[in-house]
Amino acid sequence: MNKFDQFRKKTFTPFWNNFNTKPKSSNSISIIIQSFKKFLRKNIGIKIKINTYKNLEKKDEFFSSYQIDKNIINYRNKLLAKIVVKYLRKSNLNFKIKDINKYVGEYCEVFQKSPIKELGSGFGFNEGLFLYCIIKVINPNLVIESGVMKGFTTYLIDSAVSNNCKLKCYDISFENIEYKSKKANYFQQDINQDPPNLKNKKVLAFWDDHTSQLDRLEFSIKNKIKFNLFDDDLSFLNFHSDGWPPIPSISMLFDLKNKIITKNSFEWISRGRKGEIWLEKIKKRNEINQIKTHNLFPNLFNITGFKNHSQCSLVILKK
Ligand SMILES: C[S@@+](CC[C@H](N)C(=O)[O-])C[C@H]1O[C@@H](n2cnc3c(N)ncnc32)[C@H](O)[C@@H]1O
Repeated sequence: MNKFDQFRKKTFTPFWNNFNTKPKSSNSISIIIQSFKKFLRKNIGIKIKINTYKNLEKKDEFFSSYQIDKNIINYRNKLLAKIVVKYLRKSNLNFKIKDINKYVGEYCEVFQKSPIKELGSGFGFNEGLFLYCIIKVINPNLVIESGVMKGFTTYLIDSAVSNNCKLKCYDISFENIEYKSKKANYFQQDINQDPPNLKNKKVLAFWDDHTSQLDRLEFSIKNKIKFNLFDDDLSFLNFHSDGWPPIPSISMLFDLKNKIITKNSFEWISRGRKGEIWLEKIKKRNEINQIKTHNLFPNLFNITGFKNHSQCSLVILKK
């Protein structure tokens, strides 16, 4: 039989154990407190909030709400592997399907063991899956990471690369860093201030620094970095969602090529602030012609139950 808890505004049904929560009974002390709070709110205009902290460590939903049933996890991982396979094929990468199945399983364990449990504005579970599998398939011997923040993506990169791979991690501030990789050298500067020597290296660059992606693309063309991941690769339709978008993003360059925007400037609002974009100079650039494939990571909410944190793409250059 259903039970109703008007204070929690929840209906308790017989189909599950409601996280072992019991409906508040009508004579409990909390009802008196709730009534008192309601009285204060309505008559005096004071809102009282009482929080009980069972665990002070802050955790994202990824680490507090997830599936634990083996059958469901196996089914989910099979679906994820299929999507990853389809995605990698679109990018013309070579791999064995059985390896992708293995990487997906490995990734889930790596993710759960993350030393950083509050991911903030960076990568989440969905983006990390592609990052992990792409690195496994490409198997670089040098990874450039520009935009480290707490070090969550460094942790994923470190877990995915082979033991002889080195990381070069760039950020203009390491104030928030929580994880450091033993395979990495850290540089507190923009990569263009002292570009590394990349000769004879199989490089993958991960650009997540909210800096012009056109500049980063130019850097990769100049340094022959074939494999590039661009996070926050937002188009003209959705870049208002980012408080500091990497203008122009790779998607915007394609939007311009496809003449989605023809004017030379326009405005938009993000978090209550007005921005203006100037396109004249961008339209004259032709770096986009060096791109062989450009594929956005798909949305995985229907399979993982986690919303995508950002819009990331894999860009493979012609040479
Ligand atoms: C979104 S965070 C990176 C998140 C991280 N990749 C993750 O998902 O775990 C962006 C970072 O870019 C850094 N940043 C800003 N300008 C930069 C630049 N010119 N070069 C390198 N990093 C930069 C910021 O300091 C910030 O830590």
